[in-house]
Amino acid sequence: MIYTRMTDLIGRTPLFQLAQTGSGTRLLLKLEQFNPTGAAKIRMARSMVLDAEARGLLRPGGRIVESTSGNTGLGLAVVAAERGYRFTAVVDRHACADKLRTMAALGAELIFVGDDDHLATSAREDLAEQLAANEPGAFFTEQHNNPANADGYAELADELLADLDGPDVDVLISAVGTGGSLFGTARRLRQRGSAVRVIGVEPVGSIAFGGDGGPYWQSGTGTPPGASIGTAVDYTLLDEGLKVSDIEAFATARAVAARTGLMIGGSAGGSVHAALTRLEDFAPGSTVITIVCDGGEKYLDTVFDDEWMRARNLLDLPTESHLNTLLTRLSPTPTPPPSWPPSKTADPSHPRPFGGVSTLL
Ligand SMILES: Cc1ncc(COP(=O)(O)O)c(C=O)c1O
Repeated sequence: MIYTRMTDLIGRTPLFQLAQTGSGTRLLLKLEQFNPTGAAKIRMARSMVLDAEARGLLRPGGRIVESTSGNTGLGLAVVAAERGYRFTAVVDRHACADKLRTMAALGAELIFVGDDDHLATSAREDLAEQLAANEPGAFFTEQHNNPANADGYAELADELLADLDGPDVDVLISAVGTGGSLFGTARRLRQRGSAVRVIGVEPVGSIAFGGDGGPYWQSGTGTPPGASIGTAVDYTLLDEGLKVSDIEAFATARAVAARTGLMIGGSAGGSVHAALTRLEDFAPGSTVITIVCDGGEKYLDTVFDDEWMRARNLLDLPTESHLNTLLTRLSPTPTPPPSWPPSKTADPSHPRPFGGVSTLL
């Protein structure tokens, strides 16, 4: 096949088996980083734009406006370039710097809200709404309350069922930001007769599943205190809501990279942590799916940077080591564990079980 549009490359992403229990339960990762822009969100970006066109809300030469922490903006930038729209992304500095740089490279106009590196979801949304209201021909895609967000993941569900070729998805366990990817996938699975159990995962500090709000570093996911929970979070489809700390999420992303060679992002690390640590509690023989929203390459300056992690008290080598052991024990293709203890470490007070940056003297 020879393709003529980047959006024709959306979907048909691979399933990767990360783990398997003694009772035959499998943890399969839907690797959404294989989409253009390296993220799942381009599915919903295309869906929201096509829907707006169909409803006459976007006309040739018009402007798309969205509040984004990065991946939605990347998706909209591609769709806008392809279909002849201008695109304005309202962003904050909590977003991953590489995502913002890439958005600009793709032709997006970036408008920053807030002057520190804190998440400013609510202020971003207010400004995006205002910008679109003040310019004729501009359209605020409003991902948190746009039904076309979740609808954009119907194909993801269809791909899962096609790839499994028989077995049902017994458990879908994934990150909840707007809710589009988890609930859009779950809705389609249930429409197609699946009895899937739906488990949402949000950072500790996020408020969609109750509890105290507070700051968190997992990017592109959760609902920070002060932000409103949009209609894309469909509680009627939710069986259970879980919280994962930044330390657990990031330690998982790092351990998965070092153990298997697969780079996953920080929020995917949270979902994988939730799935992995309760895999043995699911009914024997279950098929458990986690959507990997994006890849780890976008987080080399944060999650995969020891200095950035240490400065925020997020580096927890014993937790990483524990996850490495769990991944080794549940590996579907057993490999010998790396030797422990290592003969040399860069910093003897922080021995690393694997990986890391050393300086040769
Ligand atoms: C980094 C990241 N985390 C989490 C999510 C889940 O977000 P949502 O609930 O908005 O689909 C996404 C979406 O693809 C994402 O890109």
